[in-house]
This record gives sequence, structure tokens and C-alpha cells, in this order.
Amino acid sequence: MDPQSRPKIVGLGGSLARISRSRSALLRAVEGAAGAGADTQLLDLRRLDLPLYNPDEPDLTDAASVLVESCHGCDGLLWSTPLYQGTVSGSFKNALDWLHVLGSRDPPYLNDKVIGLISAAGGTQGLQAINTMEFSVRALRGWAVPYVVPVASAARVVDQEGRIIDAGVEAQLDRLGAEVVRVAERFAADLTLHRQQECADAAERVAAAGV
Ligand SMILES: Cc1cc2nc3c(=O)[nH]c(=O)nc-3n(C[C@H](O)[C@H](O)[C@H](O)COP(=O)(O)O)c2cc1C
Repeated sequence: MDPQSRPKIVGLGGSLARISRSRSALLRAVEGAAGAGADTQLLDLRRLDLPLYNPDEPDLTDAASVLVESCHGCDGLLWSTPLYQGTVSGSFKNALDWLHVLGSRDPPYLNDKVIGLISAAGGTQGLQAINTMEFSVRALRGWAVPYVVPVASAARVVDQEGRIIDAGVEAQLDRLGAEVVRVAERFAADLTLHRQQECADAAERVAAAGV
């Protein structure tokens, strides 16, 4: 990202359900990011309709291509999963599995991207999904912001039409979106984190030294 330009933030998640509380939460956080000055894109897993990732068939379908290119081309992401059986949903994990194809890119995976984490749970154990997503953030070489939003008792926070009816949670989601933008901008301003350039400079120095 050029430090002068607006960061691009991609929201990824939601369930496959028509009304999805994790999608509503994600949308709000994406709006928070836009309000903080980002260009944003929503990758709604219901609309994306990804096939199951199969390592024997790594060719990108159109949907997988949108997912992979959007995730690789952005500065930061917001992830939002429902809590299913105490952890992330299968469809959310499948989306992350597709990102495996980014291992051969330069930079690989989600290198140096900033990620904000959200979950929506029927009960109070949503932090389990957040913690599980954090493992994946590390595996994909991203950076999770410490502030997270595990939406508990989601049916009391988001109504049957998908509208958020809890102003406190709405404010938390706005804050998370803004936080991802803030940290993405700091990464962009810190030239020491641009490892590609660092490596190229180092190679030049080695060549100039004649060793
Ligand atoms: C398959 C399935 C598993 C679920 N497992 C849990 C669970 O382990 N703990 C919990 O608190 N809620 C659980 N729930 C409730 C969901 O987390 C809750 O309804 C949430 O809002 C679903 O996300 P969505 O609204 O984005 O579809 C489960 C729901 C489904 C459909």
C-alpha cells in the first residue's frame, strides 16, 4: 500500500443462512472501516458460494478467484464467523483453506495484512471461534488486532431481519473496523515492514560488496 493512498479493507464471512447475524456484524464493521477512510469490499460467503477446497483440484473457480485475489490485494481484513459446535463454521474454514493457494505468491499468504476478528454465537462461547481464527491468522502470516468482537446471544443483538438492535455492540463493531484501518495505515507508513523491498535492497548491497 502506498502510504498516501486509502487502505483497502475486505470483509470476509457470514454464514450460508439467508439472515445471518455474523454477516450483519461483519457489514457493520466494514462500514466502520469505510467511515475511518478505507475503500472496502464485502465477501459474503453465502453469495460467494465457494466449492469445497480440494488440494487435488487447486484450479481457481470464479468464486475462489474473487476470494483469493481480493484477500491478496488488500491491506487488511475483517473476518466474521458464526460459532458452530464451539468453533468456526465449516464454510468459513473452507474459505480460509482456499487461501492456501497464496503460498506460492510473493509475498505469500496474507503477509503483513491486519485482521480484525468477529464471531456471532447463540450463547456466550464466541471467544472460542475468535481464538481459533487467531491460529489461522498466524498460519497465514497476518496480524490480528488485539481488539475483538465476540457477539454473544446474537439473537438478542441482531433481529430476525438482520438489523443490529444493540447500540453497544454496534459501537464495538465500528471501533473494530476503524482499528483495522488505523493499524493498516501504520503498517503502510513503516517502511521497515516492507520485507520485499528490504530483501531486494539487501541483495543489491550484497552484490555491490562483491561477496
Ligand atoms: C450447526 C450449528 C452449530 C451451532 N453451535 C453453537 C455452539 O456451539 N455454541 C453456541 O453458542 N451457538 C451455536 N449455534 C448458534 C449460532 O452460533 C448462532 O445461531 C449464530 O447466530 C449463527 O450465525 P449466523 O446468524 O451468522 O448464521 C450453532 C448453530 C448452528 C446452526
